[in-house]
Formats: sequence, structure tokens, C-alpha cells
Amino acid sequence: MLALSSLTLLVLVSASLVFGLNSGAWNALNASVEGRLVRGIPFARSCFPDTGGPVSGIFDEQQCDTVRSDYLDHFSLASTLGGYMNSQWQTCQRTGAECLLDWTDPANADADSPPRVCSQGSIPDYGIQIVTLTDVFAGLDFSKKYGIPLVIKNSGHDFKGRSSGPGTLALWMSNLRSIEQQPHFVPTGCSSRPGKSAVTVGAGVSFSDLVTFADQHNLTIPSGGDLTVGAAGGYTQGGGHSIISNVFGLGADRVLEFEVVTPRGDHVVANQCQNSDLFFALRGGGGGTFGIVMKMTTLVFPAMPINAVFAAFDPTVGNNRLEFLRFVTNQSLEIAKQGWGAYIIPTIGILMANPILTPIAANTSVAALKTFMTVNLTGTFTMTVEPNYKTFFDKYIGALVHVPVGIPLTTSSRLVPVEHFTTASRRADLVTTITTLFDAVDLSIIFATTPFLYGPDNDQTSVSPAWRNSLWHVNVANTWNFNTTVAEVSKKYSSLKVAVDPLRLLTPGSGAYQNEADVYEPDHEGEVGRPLYISPILTSVKASFWGTHYARLVEIKRKYDPEHILDCWQCVDWLGANNLRYKCYI
Ligand SMILES: Cc1cc2nc3c(=O)[nH]c(=O)nc-3n(C[C@H](O)[C@H](O)[C@H](O)COP(=O)(O)OP(=O)(O)OC[C@H]3O[C@@H](n4cnc5c(N)ncnc54)[C@H](O)[C@@H]3O)c2cc1C
Ligand SMILES: *[C@@H]1O[C@H](CO)[C@@H](O)[C@H](O)[C@H]1NC(C)=O
Ligand SMILES: *[C@@H]1O[C@H](CO)[C@@H](O)[C@H](O)[C@H]1NC(C)=O
Ligand SMILES: *[C@@H]1O[C@H](CO)[C@@H](O)[C@H](O)[C@H]1NC(C)=O
Ligand SMILES: *[C@@H]1O[C@H](CO)[C@@H](O)[C@H](O)[C@H]1NC(C)=O
Ligand SMILES: *[C@@H]1O[C@H](CO)[C@@H](O)[C@H](O)[C@H]1NC(C)=O
Ligand SMILES: *[C@@H]1O[C@H](CO)[C@@H](O)[C@H](O)[C@H]1NC(C)=O
Repeated sequence: MLALSSLTLLVLVSASLVFGLNSGAWNALNASVEGRLVRGIPFARSCFPDTGGPVSGIFDEQQCDTVRSDYLDHFSLASTLGGYMNSQWQTCQRTGAECLLDWTDPANADADSPPRVCSQGSIPDYGIQIVTLTDVFAGLDFSKKYGIPLVIKNSGHDFKGRSSGPGTLALWMSNLRSIEQQPHFVPTGCSSRPGKSAVTVGAGVSFSDLVTFADQHNLTIPSGGDLTVGAAGGYTQGGGHSIISNVFGLGADRVLEFEVVTPRGDHVVANQCQNSDLFFALRGGGGGTFGIVMKMTTLVFPAMPINAVFAAFDPTVGNNRLEFLRFVTNQSLEIAKQGWGAYIIPTIGILMANPILTPIAANTSVAALKTFMTVNLTGTFTMTVEPNYKTFFDKYIGALVHVPVGIPLTTSSRLVPVEHFTTASRRADLVTTITTLFDAVDLSIIFATTPFLYGPDNDQTSVSPAWRNSLWHVNVANTWNFNTTVAEVSKKYSSLKVAVDPLRLLTPGSGAYQNEADVYEPDHEGEVGRPLYISPILTSVKASFWGTHYARLVEIKRKYDPEHILDCWQCVDWLGANNLRYKCYI
């Protein structure tokens, strides 16, 4: 009798995972974090009268009105534990269990009315709103004691689902919003006086906070293209490109120090003088892998004017798009040498920023572009000198560039090395390849945001060395909706992967930006890895995400996290696709 009941209990506990863990354990955790344990509630939970399985939160029509109006709003998503920008990461893709609205019309009741149900999907069951180091230690201990997998969640921007997971406990970093100016920062334990102009930011600081801070303190701090991306989380730890990266480097290049809790529970400082292996790994090796970053100190620059250009054309007229792609391919090396960074949108035009040329030199350097866009393509051309990065951002990126959020969307990436731009025949091959690619996908953009002028980093960071000799990070995406079938979603991923293969083949030995890469990137680890997908044409593609840095990253991972307390999809030395953590990936 006794044996039977304990067996029954065991079955219950393992079958219902986190929800089945006795509430006493959660209450004790909650007490140890001073009441900061919260439920992970699906973003659209309040719109659903019916549920499928255990799900947190309640049906609430008034709350639902707010959800419908905020459904595509990046600030609302980023400030909610259950909010994820690419909404498939709220769902269990393999089973189709989800709690999504119709993003093309969030008011469409077809999405949330019976027989449709709301499911917990991949949203963490619980999250600790991290305020103190003790909160992090408590989360680590709890995960180790009960075998509940951890995720680190910051803004929820991750394109590969690395900040959510079924049955997980989230360390939710968004509350750590301190920003401190450091006019003469010397990394702890270093003697390199007089120090550098820097800021120290908490793990939850967004670019919105930071760009505003820079404006108020007469500084330039490069940012990503969306202001709700976190400054110190996955962006910087995975690379971090900006429209002014050509001159100022990647986010990973500018870091001077991290304050970290290691998976073993040690609170350490990592910089060039101490724990320098961890410092190297956190500068490009990827978020959610090596430790829980509490603070980051990053180099900043004085405020400076930004030369800005926006030129657009009508893509439906004649051969306009092809002519445009030919022209920008032809000009890319020259404009990069002059300090321009650009977002090239094949169906719209080009947005450019240059922080180093004088206005007159900037004007001269884009004269050919202006003629081409206005005369040859009969389009528009605007050039202004913005007083600082914030005014540039608000007027150009904020107003003109909208990476869609709140929708199911998946990306793929390829870094295109400079040699593809140096002869007419190689440029022609590149244009042919990307034109076919862009026709095969839902969305496309070329980020001319590589640290090309910034120069070599002598292996100080762990991003793929392919970043250093590339001019472009080509980024494409497919999208779908709440009622797309599992089989069709699977096709969205596989067709994207296949569409990019010719560009991979054209650029052997290059790589992809791992933060914006294919969820099923071939050979993401290189020779020592376990590629999920091997295409016969791709045998010469090596180590897509980290190139020659991969072996060292694996050593560092095994030193700091031998038990895989942290693990994420296609992250360094991950547990692999068959691990239960990844049961919701298709
Ligand atoms: C709309 C949009 C625009 C974007 N624009 C750009 C861009 O211009 N340039 C660019 O380079 N990238 C861009 N990205 C990609 C972005 O860099 C990645 O999505 C990145 O992972 C976001 O990091 P996060 O911490 O904000 O998000 P999250 O999804 O919360 O976290 C991402 C990853 O980092 C880990 N992580 C978060 N915080 C910590 C921490 N404190 N310690 C350790 N690990 C942590 C998480 O576990 C997860 O693995 C964009 C993404 C979107 C959706
Ligand atoms: C944790 O405790 C706080 C304060 O007592 C309470 O408001 C909150 O609901 C608790 N969290 C959970 C998940 O029970
Ligand atoms: C801002 O910094 C620039 C460059 O260092 C300097 O020329 C300018 O005077 C500063 N402005 C203010 C308001 O401090
Ligand atoms: C490409 O650019 C070079 C100068 O950089 C120019 O001489 C040539 O005419 C251009 N070709 C096209 C097709 O635009
Ligand atoms: C910029 O260059 C154009 C030619 O492309 C010229 O007409 C214009 O006067 C220049 N403007 C400035 C401010 O130099
Ligand atoms: C722009 O049009 C002119 C006049 O037709 C032509 O000579 C020139 O080659 C075109 N430029 C490009 C880059 O196509
Ligand atoms: C998905 O829902 C939309 C809106 O309700 C509907 O128009 C469409 O036909 C549905 N598609 C499928 C595949 O069911």
C-alpha cells in the first residue's frame, strides 16, 4: 500500500512537470526571493475563455481589450514575462499548443473563441523577478535541487527561442535597470590608467533607456535597430550590430567588463585582467550559456553629429529592384570605406548613417547614389545632418524601419565577405543569388552593419571572425499566423533554410550572425559539432556561428558549466535537439 502510493506520487510529479511540483517547494522559493516569484502567463491569456491543460492566468474581457490593442507593441511584449517578440516561442510548436491571437487583426474573435483554447506552450511556468544576487542564487539552487530547467529572460527578442521553454523557471532580468556613467573606467584589477569613458548598465536596461541616457549625458551609445532590445543580454553577448558598427564595432567589441553569476553560483567579475576566458566567451559566444550577467560596462563616445541618408524607390516599376541591388552591391565597398553603415531594404530603398565624415565630404560621397536613386530610379533622396544619435534614431530608424514583432517569424542569416564585392563578375553572382533568395522568402533586409572599418579584433571577442572581413549580414525571414498548421509551419522553416543554401554555397567558410540565424542552421558548431541538418552541397561550410573560436568556447563552457545548468538551442556545447528541453521545437 505504501509502495503503491509513493509510486503514484512519483508518476504524478514527473507527468505534470513544474505544475505538479508540490506548492510547498514553490512557496519556499517565493519566500527566499522576498515574494518576487511570479507566474508566466501567456500574453493573450485574458482573451481565452477556454484552456487546454494547466495554464496560468485568467479570462478577463477588460484586460483582453488592452491585449488586443497592444498585441504588436514591442514595449508591452518586452515588459511581460509571457511576452515574446516572435510569438511562436510562446507556443509548443511541435504539438500546436498555443495562446495566440490573429496578428493581422488582433480583434478577430476566431482566434480566441471556443473551440480554440489557450495553452501554456513554451512560456516559463514561473519566473523570478531578479533584483538581488540572492534571487539568482535561489534560482540556481532550486533548478539543481528539483531538476527544473532554467531560462534567462530579458526582453524576449530572441529569434531562436532561447529565452523561453516548456516547464521552465525563468530568471527574469528586466528589473535591473541601473545606468551609471563612468568617465574614467578602469576594469577591476587592471592598472590601465587613466581609464576610458564608459557606462555600467544593469542586465535589464533596454536600448530605449540607454539611447535616452546618452542623449541626456552628451554621449553616443550605438544601439540595435529596435529600442526594446536589451543592451547587456543576448544582443551584446551574441555580437550586437548597429547601423554605426562599421565605425564603432559590434556590441561585443565595446564591452570592458561583465559582472556575472556563474552556473556554479560564484559571483565574479570578468574582464581582460580577471576571468579573461569567461570575458572572451561572453563577448560573442552567445547569451544564456556561460553565466547570468548582472551588469555590463561598455565603452561610450562623445555625442557627435550623424550624417543621415534615406533614399527610396518604387519596386513595382520595371527592373527597379534589380537595378537597385546591382547599384548598392557595386557601391558597398566604397561606402563602407568612407564610414557609412546601412540598412538596405530591397523593396524600399536604403537608410544610411555616417558618424565620421564632415557634412561636405558626406554629401560628396553619396552624390552617385543620389543621382542614381533620383534620376535612374525616379525615386527620392533625403540627406540631413542630425545633431546626435538619438535624433538620428528617432527620425530615421524609429520612423522608417519596422521589424514586425508580436507575430510568428523566423529568420536566417549569411555574412558576405568583402571578396564578393571586388570584381564585376563576383558582384553579378552575388546579385543573382540574393535576387532569387529574396523572391523565395517573406521578408528581407541587408544589414551593411559589419565592423569592417573598425578592424580586426585579434581574437579578443568570440564572434565568428567572418564578421571582420564581411560587408553584409544578409537577413531573411518567413512569417505565419495563429492557425497555420504544424506541417505548414515546418515548411516555413525548411523552405527558408533551403532558400539560403545557394548563398551559403556562394560564401563557403563564412558564417551567420547567430542571433539572427536559421533555427536549423547547418554546421553551426563546425567540425566538432553535431549538425542537425547536413546538406551535401555544404560540406565546405565550417563553424557557421563561431568559426575558429568554437573549440575554445567549448572548453570555457565545460569549465564554468559542466552540468549544463544553462543550455539553449544551438548554443555552445548544447545538449542537442533530442533533449526534453527542446521538445517544442519542430
Ligand atoms: C525586432 C528585433 C530587432 C532586432 N534588432 C537587432 C539589431 O539591430 N542588431 C542586433 O545585433 N540584433 C538585433 N536583434 C536580435 C537580438 O540581438 C537578439 O534577439 C538578442 O538575443 C536579444 O537579446 P535580449 O537579451 O534582449 O533578449 P532575450 O530574448 O530575453 O534573451 C536572448 C538570449 O540572451 C540570454 N540572456 C538574456 N539576458 C541575459 C543575461 N543577463 N545573462 C546571460 N544571458 C542572458 C537569454 O537566455 C537568451 O538566450 C533584433 C531582434 C528583434 C526581435
Ligand atoms: C509570491 O509571494 C508574493 C508575496 O507574498 C505573492 O504576492 C505572490 O503571488 C507569490 N507568487 C506566487 C507565484 O505564488
Ligand atoms: C557635448 O560634447 C561635445 C563633444 O565632446 C562638445 O563639443 C559639446 O560642447 C558638449 N555639449 C554639452 C552640452 O556638454
Ligand atoms: C561600379 O562602380 C564603379 C566605381 O566604383 C564604376 O566605375 C562602375 O561604372 C559601376 N558599375 C555599375 C554597373 O554601376
Ligand atoms: C551636395 O551635393 C550636391 C550634388 O550631389 C550639390 O548639389 C549640393 O550643393 C551639395 N550640398 C552641400 C551642402 O554641399
Ligand atoms: C543611370 O542612367 C544613365 C542614363 O541613362 C546611364 O548612363 C547610367 O549607366 C545609369 N546608371 C546606372 C548605375 O545604372
Ligand atoms: C485562419 O484564420 C483566418 C482568419 O480567421 C481565416 O481567414 C483563414 O482561412 C484561416 N486559415 C486556415 C488555414 O484555417
